[in-house]
Amino acid sequence: MRIGPFLLGAICILVIGCESENIEEYFADVECPTDNVSFHADVRPILDSHCNDCHNSTAQLGGIILDAYEDVLLYVHNDRLLGSIKHLPGFSPMPQIGSMLDDCSIDQIEAWIQSGAPDN
Ligand code: HEC
Repeated sequence: MRIGPFLLGAICILVIGCESENIEEYFADVECPTDNVSFHADVRPILDSHCNDCHNSTAQLGGIILDAYEDVLLYVHNDRLLGSIKHLPGFSPMPQIGSMLDDCSIDQIEAWIQSGAPDN
């Protein structure tokens, strides 16, 4: 009977395959958690360090303020926040000076918006 070892091998490969996928997901989530992203603990610090030299309530370049939840919500709802940080066509690419935000920051802001952009 050769079928036994073959089946065992196939099952091992399947199990290992599934596990390594879970492990990858696990590490992706540890490196860049996108569950329960918080405005005050995650999103606001990203905006503060990359955007708010230009978009605070004093500078307001382009008339845009991004240092309070209510102001940010405006740009969530008109899609300009995501459009500008993802450099989508039709939006001014942001930050205006320097490089694009890192992938994790963009993923976290997008996850926060998809979860309903809560004031959390
Ligand atoms: C060096 C200054 C500067 C920085 C840093 C900066 N911006 Fe801007 N931003 C501007 C100016 C000036 C405008 C208005 C002119 C324009 O649209 O290009 C603008 C426009 C925008 C707009 C409107 C875009 C549109 O298409 O209508 C959004 C949204 C925005 N910024 C978000 C951000 C975000 C988010 C960041 C950080 C990731 C950021 N900005 C960083 C200067 C800046």
